[in-house]
Amino acid sequence: MSSTITVPEARAHAAAPGTTPHRWLLPTEAHPTPHISFGADYNPDQWPREVWAEDVELMREAGVTIVSLAIFSWARIQTGPDTWDIEWLDDVMDLLHAGGIQVDLATATASPPPWLTTLHPEILPVTRTGETLWPGARQHWRPTSPVFREHALRLVEVLAQRYKDHPALVAWHVSNELGCHNAYDYSEDAAASFRTWLTDRYGDVDALNDAWGTAFWSQRYTSLEEVLPPRLAASYPNPTQQLDFKRFSSDALQGYLRAEREILARITPDVPVTTNFMVMGETSAQDYPAWASDVDFVSNDHYVHPGPQSHAELSFSASFTGKIAGRRPWYLMEHSTSAVNWQPVNLAKRAGQMARDSLTHVAHGADAVCYFQWRQSVAGAEKYHSGMVPHAGRDSRLFREVVRLGRTLEALAPVAGSAQLPARVAILQDHDSWWASELDSHPTQLLRYRQEALDWYAALRELGVRADVVPAATDLDVYDVVVAPVLHVVPAALRARLEAVVARGGHLVATYFSGIVDADDHVVPGGYPGALRDLLGVRVEEFSPLLDGDTVTLSDGGTGTLWTEPVDVVGPDVDVLVTYTSGDVAGSPAVTRRTHPGGGSATYVSTRLGQAGVGRLLERLLPLVDVTSELPAALRGRVELAVRAHDDAELWFLVNLTDDDVPLTADGTPLLDGTHLLDGSGDPATDARPTHLAPRAVTVLRRTRRA
Ligand code: GLA
Repeated sequence: MSSTITVPEARAHAAAPGTTPHRWLLPTEAHPTPHISFGADYNPDQWPREVWAEDVELMREAGVTIVSLAIFSWARIQTGPDTWDIEWLDDVMDLLHAGGIQVDLATATASPPPWLTTLHPEILPVTRTGETLWPGARQHWRPTSPVFREHALRLVEVLAQRYKDHPALVAWHVSNELGCHNAYDYSEDAAASFRTWLTDRYGDVDALNDAWGTAFWSQRYTSLEEVLPPRLAASYPNPTQQLDFKRFSSDALQGYLRAEREILARITPDVPVTTNFMVMGETSAQDYPAWASDVDFVSNDHYVHPGPQSHAELSFSASFTGKIAGRRPWYLMEHSTSAVNWQPVNLAKRAGQMARDSLTHVAHGADAVCYFQWRQSVAGAEKYHSGMVPHAGRDSRLFREVVRLGRTLEALAPVAGSAQLPARVAILQDHDSWWASELDSHPTQLLRYRQEALDWYAALRELGVRADVVPAATDLDVYDVVVAPVLHVVPAALRARLEAVVARGGHLVATYFSGIVDADDHVVPGGYPGALRDLLGVRVEEFSPLLDGDTVTLSDGGTGTLWTEPVDVVGPDVDVLVTYTSGDVAGSPAVTRRTHPGGGSATYVSTRLGQAGVGRLLERLLPLVDVTSELPAALRGRVELAVRAHDDAELWFLVNLTDDDVPLTADGTPLLDGTHLLDGSGDPATDARPTHLAPRAVTVLRRTRRA
C-alpha cells in the first residue's frame, strides 16, 4: 500500500444534482411495496440480550420498518487485529428479519476501537494547533491515514461478505456522519495528501504560486514539497491556501466514502449504498452536493436548534437536502424524538412537535423518517439524548407519540416515491462562497453565509411563497426567480449561467459581498460587485460594514445591519427601490433593480435586511416579477406549503406553523380542494373534511396535477 492516500478532486467533477442514478432500499417480504420507512439507529450491543426481543416487539407496535445497525460496533465486532466476535450480530440480524424489520447495515467503521489506536496511534487526527485528538470519544481517525484505511476497509470487506445474502439487508450505511468531528486534520498524512491534491489541481508550483498569490508576504514556494496545511501561523494563513484546504478536506472524506463504496459495490452490487449527510445549521465542511453522486440515495441527519427560525431552518435544510438528491426521495437518517444532549440547554420537544418536524421532512421529499436512536441509553455521553423508547419506557407520552406517528406514516404510503415539485423561486447555496465569504482577514467577521439565505427562505415562507434551496450547479432553467445570497465566488461559468437567467426573462436577486472573487479567491477588479457589476448595473468603491449592534435606517421604514455600501448606479434602466437614510451611506441607494431587455431583471441588496426586512422588500418585488402565493390568503403566514408530485397527482403538505387552530374551510367550503390523506390533527384521514388544522399539525391533500 502506498504511504499517501490520493484524494481525487471530487468536487471538480461533481455531477449536476439529479443526473446520476438513484436506487432506493431493497423491498423485502415484510415491506414489498413503496412506503414511508420509519425507524432509528439501533444499538443492541449496549443492552443485554433479554432486551432485544422486547425491542422487536415494541418496534412492531410502533410500526417501525427499518433500523440502522452496528454504527458504533467496531470494538464489539473485532476484538483485535485478527480476532472477531460477530455471532451476536448474526443473531440481531436474524431477530430483526423475523420481526419484519429491515436493516440499513452500517460498515461499523465510524469509531476505531482502543486496540487499534493503541497499536497505531498514527491514525489519530491532529488539530491546526498541533494537538492530537486522543481516543476516548469517537471518530478519532485521519481521513487520509493509509493505516486507518487498511483496517477500516478490511472490516467493510468482512461485513459485506458475511451479510451479502442476508434477507434483512436493504442498504449499506457507510461509516457515520463523515467529518462530524474529524473534518479538518492537519497531520503529516493530511499534508502529504494535500500536496498530491494540489499537484492534481495546479500541475506545478508556478501555477500554485499564481493561484495562491504568494507574491504577498514572501510566501513564494520553490517546490510543492514545501506546502503545508494551513496550520496555526503567526498571522492569517494565505486565504487561497485556506480555501483549497477546505476543498481538499471535503474531497478527502468523499474519497474515503468512495473507498468503502467500491468494496460494497463489488461484493453486493444490488444493495444501495448511502451515508448520512449533515445538512443542518452551520455545518459547512462537507460539500454534499458534490458527494451526492457517490451514494445511491441521499441521507441526512437534522437536529433543530431553538430560536425564532428553528422550524424555518429545518425546512430550509430539508429543501436543500431534497435538491441535493435531485428532487428524488431521500432518507432522513437521524433527527430527535425530543431533547438532544449537545446543546448548552437541551429543550424537550412540545406535544406534536416531533410529528411536525418529521412530517416537514417528508413534505420536502423524505421517504424515510428515522431517529437517533431507538432506545435511550442509560450509560455513556448520550444517555440524556432522547430516543424512540425513552428512559420512562413504553408507558410514556413520548412512546405514545411515536406509535401515533407510525400510524400516520403508514397512511402516507401513497406519497412514497413522489418527486418534489419545483417552486418558482430558487435560493442558491454554494460551498465555495460559504467557505470563502467567512474566511478571516475580511471586512467583517460577523457575516454568516447561511443566515442570509435562511432569512430569504423564511421571509418567502411567511408570505406563503414556496422556494427551493438549490446547489449552485442546479439547472436554473425551471426557475423564474433566482436569489443569490452572498454569492461571493463567481467564476466565469457561474456568471454566464446567471446572465442567462436574466437574458431569458428571469429575475436575479443578489446581496452584498456577491461576485467579489474568482475561484482562486482573487478580487475581480474595477469596483464591486465584481463579476456581477454589469448585470446589476451598480458599482461600489468601498465596503462599509457595521459594528455589532449598529444599524442604519432605510427609506422603506426598515433597517440594515452588518453591512452597508455607497452604491453608484452605473447601468441603464436601474431603479432605486430603497435608499439609506442614516449612517455614513445616507442618501446612497441601498436596493436597486435593473430591468433588462426581454423583461428579465437583476436586483441588488447592499445591506443585511434580516427576515422582516426581506419580507418588506419581497412584498414590493414579487409583484414586479409576477410571483404570487399558491395558498389562499387565510393560510399565508400560518402554514408552510410543500408540494410533492406523482405523474398524475400533486401532494400538498400543509404544516401549521402556529400554536393555534388554522381554518381549512370558509363558510363550510374547503379552502383547498383535494382528498385528505391526513386529517386536521395529522392522523390518518377519515371521510370527513377537516375544518381546522390543529396547532403544529400537518395535513396532506392529494390534488389533481396541474398542467
Ligand atoms: C449524530 C450522530 C449520532 C448521535 C447524534 C446525537 O447525529 O450521528 O450518533 O450522536 O448525533 O444527536
